[in-house]
Amino acid sequence: MNLAIIGATGNVGRKILEVLEKSEVAVDNLILVASKKSEGKKIFFKKKEFIIESLAEYDFSRAEFTIFAAGSEIAKEWVTIASKKTIVIDNSSFFRMEKDIPLVVPEVNASVLKEHNNIISNPNCSTIQMVLVLKPLHDKYRIKRVVVSTYQAVSGAGKVPMDELFSQSKDYLQGKKIISKNFTKQIAFNLIPHIDVFSKDGYTKEELKMINETKKF
Ligand SMILES: NC(=O)c1ccc[n+]([C@@H]2O[C@H](COP(=O)([O-])OP(=O)(O)OC[C@H]3O[C@@H](n4cnc5c(N)ncnc54)[C@H](OP(=O)(O)O)[C@@H]3O)[C@@H](O)[C@H]2O)c1
Repeated sequence: MNLAIIGATGNVGRKILEVLEKSEVAVDNLILVASKKSEGKKIFFKKKEFIIESLAEYDFSRAEFTIFAAGSEIAKEWVTIASKKTIVIDNSSFFRMEKDIPLVVPEVNASVLKEHNNIISNPNCSTIQMVLVLKPLHDKYRIKRVVVSTYQAVSGAGKVPMDELFSQSKDYLQGKKIISKNFTKQIAFNLIPHIDVFSKDGYTKEELKMINETKKF
């Protein structure tokens, strides 16, 4: 199998590579893609060197499977184009609630994979963990209501916010002025009790993702 990863330099892309390295999935040809600014950078996978390619010039027919881990904006722009030439597994929220696109956690609903139009969507990270636990309970007892609290690391927001935590922590310890760019408040030595932006009904987008995606299973 030939496999391409779009967003290979990001948090999710690098985690996918880490998992693949330990897995028994045989990849004949791995293609690593990111933005223009990462073009030419090197990543090591199974002790072999891979050169990052730029998405703008990438030909999607080079791999049977393409994992997108580059966010909703990139998914919106490229996934449908890519799906004409490759089977796409998208990690962003962009396609999750689309009626004809399967939203899959293999341990929970792999059977829906029988029908897809080359786009398969992957739920929010908190949703995945939750439905894994809920599925056997629901099968046996039919769950009516779930009360959830999540405590999430800065890494969940991506590598740029993670860098902000690092540099802000340094500034904080050196008594320098704190500037927040990716969060609503100082994140260094702090805990912000909401994730993503608020919608009109008072829920945050992260909360709504968990509510709505879970109902699609
Ligand atoms: N972090 C999590 O725990 C988590 C969990 C589940 C799902 N997700 C979802 O997975 C997606 C990726 O998240 P992440 O945390 O990995 O983000 P991230 O760390 O910010 O990484 C983003 C990746 O997208 C690439 N990218 C950005 N702009 C691009 C462009 N114009 N063309 C091509 N590539 C581009 C980046 O490449 P450069 O390095 O070249 O900029 C990088 O490889 C998001 O949709 C997120 O919601 C994240």
